[in-house]
Amino acid sequence: MPDVISADRLAVNGGTPVRDRLKNPWPSWPATTEAEWKREIEPALREVYLEKTEGLPATRSDRFGHAFAAYCGAGYGLMMPHGTDAISASIAGALDLDGLREGGEIIIPNYTFIATASAALSVRCRLALVDIDPVSFTLDPNAVQAAITDRTVGILPVHIGGHPADMDALNAIAHRHGLVVIEDAAQAHGAEHNGRRVGPLGDVGAYSFQSSKNLTAGEGGCLVTDRPQIYERACAFKDVGRRPGGERWEYPRHGWNYRTSEYLACILLVRLKSLQVQTEVRSRNAAYLTRELRRIGGLTPPAARPWVTRHGYHLYMTRYDPEQFGGRSRDEFITALTAEGIDCTPGYQRPLTDEGALKSVTQEYPDRVRRLPCPHVEFVCRHSVWFYQSMLLGTRDDLDDIAEAVDKIRLAFSR
Ligand SMILES: Cc1ncc(COP(=O)(O)O)c(C=O)c1O
Repeated sequence: MPDVISADRLAVNGGTPVRDRLKNPWPSWPATTEAEWKREIEPALREVYLEKTEGLPATRSDRFGHAFAAYCGAGYGLMMPHGTDAISASIAGALDLDGLREGGEIIIPNYTFIATASAALSVRCRLALVDIDPVSFTLDPNAVQAAITDRTVGILPVHIGGHPADMDALNAIAHRHGLVVIEDAAQAHGAEHNGRRVGPLGDVGAYSFQSSKNLTAGEGGCLVTDRPQIYERACAFKDVGRRPGGERWEYPRHGWNYRTSEYLACILLVRLKSLQVQTEVRSRNAAYLTRELRRIGGLTPPAARPWVTRHGYHLYMTRYDPEQFGGRSRDEFITALTAEGIDCTPGYQRPLTDEGALKSVTQEYPDRVRRLPCPHVEFVCRHSVWFYQSMLLGTRDDLDDIAEAVDKIRLAFSR
């Protein structure tokens, strides 16, 4: 590429895009194939349908819970209808909550999907929303330490985009203060912290299988833990207070109905088999894209903190530097990149506490939400550009298109 290019060559100004999405679409997600449908999915769904075993006794959901726990290196796994419910059940299990009693305050990052907060609110916990580490975008242990009061009962790190949070530091803080640690691993399938998969690294962890996630059945969730008591309480929370393996008409605890359809479990059992290979492809492609973006400059690729032995790459989260793009705004860049045929998003555009949902909770119930200073969250919200995990399942040519488009825009904006 030349040192500068004319702005009218940009697709946003009528030029030819780097990629024609219609002729050359991005890899679609989930990666379904006719062959997989015929060989694995159809026979599994058919069996459930003809055997009339769509709900209880839910042996396939149990089987998936065990299989996913084994994948995460955890002793117990409990399938849930959504990641949000998996977080609520995890909190209820870890803190011995029945969902009716006030639960105490939980510290969460102010940079996450709304469900992290709503799951905690749904089991009557209060929230303290704190700052993130500017490199990994995960919960900053120093911010957690500074937020602890005598009302704090738990810490809820989010392995955002697939980057594991600093679990050693967070577990050490929790240990010192007698707090529980609940991991939100909704975006971190296959991610490893010092050689161990995330989820059971604190007391309990929750995954999501919603349609964008690296393992999906459209919807779905699972909690994983090594603690039998947490598992049993979560089972009661999920299944109207029943004990796992207990009597059908006996309800020793208060609980709700978060049972799942067996059809969902069938699909997850099949797709779990591909998760590791896909995780490795994403890792290799992310490493390649990182090399290319570093060469070009202007978009800082995601960095991994030293404890990360595997990034899950649910999102490839970059930081935009306007100075390297002639002072043009992040939003102008995203418009130009999208016009070049490259899918991308700014992601979370404001701290969670600035979202209408949490503003209204704060207004109605002022003691439920506490916001601490979050300068890094504010910066990241203004500068992020994310690429989706499915783009990392593509070919080198796909990744070269991303790099070429970034380079093209940088050269045009720099004129
Ligand atoms: C960080 C995070 N937490 C929780 C959830 C909630 O999962 P679900 O949509 O399956 O309820 C999601 C995703 O949707 C998420 O990205």
